[in-house]
Amino acid sequence: MNQYQLPSQEKKPEYVRQNFDGIAKAYDRFNDWNSFFLHRKWKDWVVRKALEAVPNAKSALDLCCGTGDITSRLSKHPNLETVVGLDFSEQMLSYAFPKVEGKQVNLIVGDAMDLKQFADGSFDIVTMGFGLRNVSDLRLCLKEIKRVLKEGGVYVNLDVGRVRPRFLKVFADFYFFKIVPLFGYLLYGKQNEMFDYLPHSSKTYPDQETLKTILEEVGFTNVWFQNFVFGNAVAHVAKKAN
Ligand SMILES: C[S@@+](CC[C@H](N)C(=O)[O-])C[C@H]1O[C@@H](n2cnc3c(N)ncnc32)[C@H](O)[C@@H]1O
Repeated sequence: MNQYQLPSQEKKPEYVRQNFDGIAKAYDRFNDWNSFFLHRKWKDWVVRKALEAVPNAKSALDLCCGTGDITSRLSKHPNLETVVGLDFSEQMLSYAFPKVEGKQVNLIVGDAMDLKQFADGSFDIVTMGFGLRNVSDLRLCLKEIKRVLKEGGVYVNLDVGRVRPRFLKVFADFYFFKIVPLFGYLLYGKQNEMFDYLPHSSKTYPDQETLKTILEEVGFTNVWFQNFVFGNAVAHVAKKAN
């Protein structure tokens, strides 16, 4: 591991926003390289499972939408009349606009921990890709998500997980903490600590079983998760009860 230090909880939101603004131009290719393009399949899975969980869904909110990968996938579904992508980094959002051109999608600047612009029960589906580990108060964010979901709605969260077999974890950690930042520096053109932040932010993020418990504690039901590549990434599916 290198000497990178995570920002304090207090400084985290501004640190995360400013730094995502800074790396936005390299972000999509960084994801392709560090996941060997697999993140595209995982994002397809997120949208497919959300729509399977709520077959008559009419509205979807993609939080921490960044460059709009999940938002654009949602926008292709003809039954979804309302699709909103929300992120607090304007630069990340600027790369989302071309992906949803010609589609009925609202891309808005906002804070995933304070969704005051949305009334209770506004959406059938809420998705989030690699966003939850970046918010400074995970439980507060999950409570907001539950509030804006309709009864019977679903939340699908994709993020990093813990690799379980010990011998694989050693390789996964070496790859994640040592190699992944190098991809970032190469694509960005020089060193940028955000590419160290991204793997290091997983250290304070709950493992898959703990996140399932937290989702249940917040009041979601029928919570389950799907590991990808031995738990390197994981998607949680959580319902808001009727
Ligand atoms: C790792 S990127 C993920 C982007 C996209 N969802 C994806 O899967 O490729 C995380 C995004 O979360 C956004 N973000 C982090 N905290 C946020 C918050 N509190 N409110 C809104 N956006 C936030 C960042 O600006 C960044 O665009």
